[in-house]
Amino acid sequence: MKTLLITGGAGFIGSHVVRLFVNKYPEYKILNLDKLTYAGNLANLKDIEGKPNYEFIKGDIVDSGFIQKLFETCQFDGVIHLAAESHVDRSISNPLEFVMTNVVGTVNLLNAAKHIWKDGFDGKRFYHISTDEVYGSLGEKGLFTEETPYDPHSPYSAAKASSDHFVRAYHDTYGLPVVISNCSNNYGSFQFPEKLIPLFINNIKNNKPLPVYGKGENVRDWLWVDDHANAIDVIFNKGKLGETYNIGGFNEWTNIDLIRLMCRKMDKKLGRETGESEKLITYVKDRAGHDLRYAIDSSKLKDELGWEPSLQFEEGLEKTIDWYLANTNWLENVTSGDYQKYYEGMYNKK
Ligand code: NAD
Ligand code: DAU
Repeated sequence: MKTLLITGGAGFIGSHVVRLFVNKYPEYKILNLDKLTYAGNLANLKDIEGKPNYEFIKGDIVDSGFIQKLFETCQFDGVIHLAAESHVDRSISNPLEFVMTNVVGTVNLLNAAKHIWKDGFDGKRFYHISTDEVYGSLGEKGLFTEETPYDPHSPYSAAKASSDHFVRAYHDTYGLPVVISNCSNNYGSFQFPEKLIPLFINNIKNNKPLPVYGKGENVRDWLWVDDHANAIDVIFNKGKLGETYNIGGFNEWTNIDLIRLMCRKMDKKLGRETGESEKLITYVKDRAGHDLRYAIDSSKLKDELGWEPSLQFEEGLEKTIDWYLANTNWLENVTSGDYQKYYEGMYNKK
């Protein structure tokens, strides 16, 4: 039986990855390590928590002593590392937290893997999950490929870029068996409502202003979260060691077009007159260092490993809106308490 460590498995993407691996690989023991920050929520994994091949461990990847002991005790065969501080706006107000979790936390995991695998790397694998934001911003044309030079602009993307460099350095220096993927914007169920899509669904539902940064002309390439989880499965099992794979949806939207589409869909679902929800659109001060456009060329992943995005965007967006409208308890739980303070500080500054 193989033992896999998944970090950040109580978060948005991590919970979809944990669910996929626990259900698909009953012969693997899956350990989910998560600090349960504001973004981590065990309610995301209610349906699999009793499975015999699943275990949750609460812990901080920044705590090197704890990580070292955990690896010695569990003797993991593989690591899929998703734990991170993930929200760009929070990184602008608190960069150091992003350095600690995203950089120091990643290096702690690399050290622990190198230590327990010292007798040989055969059959072992350290898979680091990263973002397209490390490549910086595109102009109107072109796509990010695996060869695009790194050019991060936010403290979040700078910290993720740094962690990617450490992962590659451990491969090149110590021969650690690593693989990296860089993915575009994900959407779907269980995403914390600080990110654009769930935040705006929640605000439309509650008739609250929709804070569009700048002119809403920034472009993002949206990918259904289960497509990302499937890509992670393919890359973990078949990706070539030392390689990087880009993952994206070939699905570019300007923020304002996406927001208008969400408004139209929600007018119908909430029984409002067409155009009613659009009146909530409020243009606010732009995000500092706001990248204009992200768009991924994922043809390497398609050509070499046969992965392609499955779901049409409009269908995925419908499903996502329906999920948030149906799961009011989940939404209310995560938006109570500290979330209110965050929201006031972020959007109701005087
Ligand atoms: P998320 O914020 O929803 O979840 C992050 C998880 O990590 C949470 O469960 C949190 O509790 C946990 N965590 C944070 N700090 C920790 C620490 N010090 N120790 C242990 N656990 C800790 O993030 P997400 O959107 O699911 O992103 C997951 C990963 O995917 C991140 O590495 C992110 O950079 C990457 N990524 C995200 C997207 C996206 O669109 N959301 C796109 C590409 C890549
Ligand atoms: O590209 C992958 C990245 O996508 C991931 O690495 C990050 O973890 C994830 O958070 C996401 O980053 P973005 O900054 O692109 O996502 P966010 O949902 O914060 O914003 C999407 C776009 O919407 C962006 O152009 C900023 C804009 N926006 C966002 C918020 C929260 C607004 O206009 N208003 C808002 O209130």
